[in-house]
Amino acid sequence: MKYHEMVRQSAAYIHEKLGKIQAGSAGLVTGTGLGGLTEAMENQKSLSYGDIPGFPVSTVASHAGRLVVGTVEGTPVIALHGRHHLYEGFDARQATHAVRTLGEMGVGVLILTNAAGALNPSFATGSPMLIEDHINLTGTTPLRGDNHEPWGERFPDMCEVYDSRLRRLAVDKALALGIRLERGVYMQVMGPNMETPAETRMYRAMGADAIGMSTCVEAIAARHMGMRLLGLSCLTNKNLPDCMQEASLETVIARAGEASAALSALIRAILKEIRELTDEA
Ligand code: HPA
Repeated sequence: MKYHEMVRQSAAYIHEKLGKIQAGSAGLVTGTGLGGLTEAMENQKSLSYGDIPGFPVSTVASHAGRLVVGTVEGTPVIALHGRHHLYEGFDARQATHAVRTLGEMGVGVLILTNAAGALNPSFATGSPMLIEDHINLTGTTPLRGDNHEPWGERFPDMCEVYDSRLRRLAVDKALALGIRLERGVYMQVMGPNMETPAETRMYRAMGADAIGMSTCVEAIAARHMGMRLLGLSCLTNKNLPDCMQEASLETVIARAGEASAALSALIRAILKEIRELTDEA
């Protein structure tokens, strides 16, 4: 079966089991430690990834792998709790299957969240970072191979991956809530190993402010389909070449959990007002 047919099959199954998703639904991908937001969704219905035909099954224990439909602050949301990483062995198409499914279901606005290491020395651990742009350093892209024209064009533009109006909304809401919000460039590497001091120095010199193992390939697939994106990182550790500290998965999960309250509050406030933007999408 062709890739786009597998995605269509996944979308059709979700429709069948959970009903048609509400028009104007926002998509949300919750990264490491940020699942609390999906757990708090109202009127929720969910499916396990393992039950959705075509969905890759994630192997990372910290990523539960559930698709959750419900509302947040009155806005209909379809959330992906758990993602598929390249380092698990998925190729870029498999890693973006779930995001493609949201696009196939009509999601026009997508919020991508992740846990990331701060490369910018002035950034505070525990703060959220608004992703203003990204560097995909994985060496792969979900657009490799045949292009499915109904989704998007062969050579999609990437001059504004993260929507300027959504970014402004995030900055306004962070100010209103008194949340320190860093802004910067997110870099995706393949992982799963963390970076050496020399790599960290190079990535910083390349222009990245934060680094992680997800998001860019999802953003590329979503932009290809014309979705409008907001990206938010939770800065779980500082990744500084001259004072490297060990960043174990336990530390990343613990820090993400601690910092997730601010990020969840911010996302709630954004979702409350995103309706106007999703209605237009
Ligand atoms: N490097 C890569 N991925 C990460 C990091 C990091 O320092 N922190 C959280 N995810």
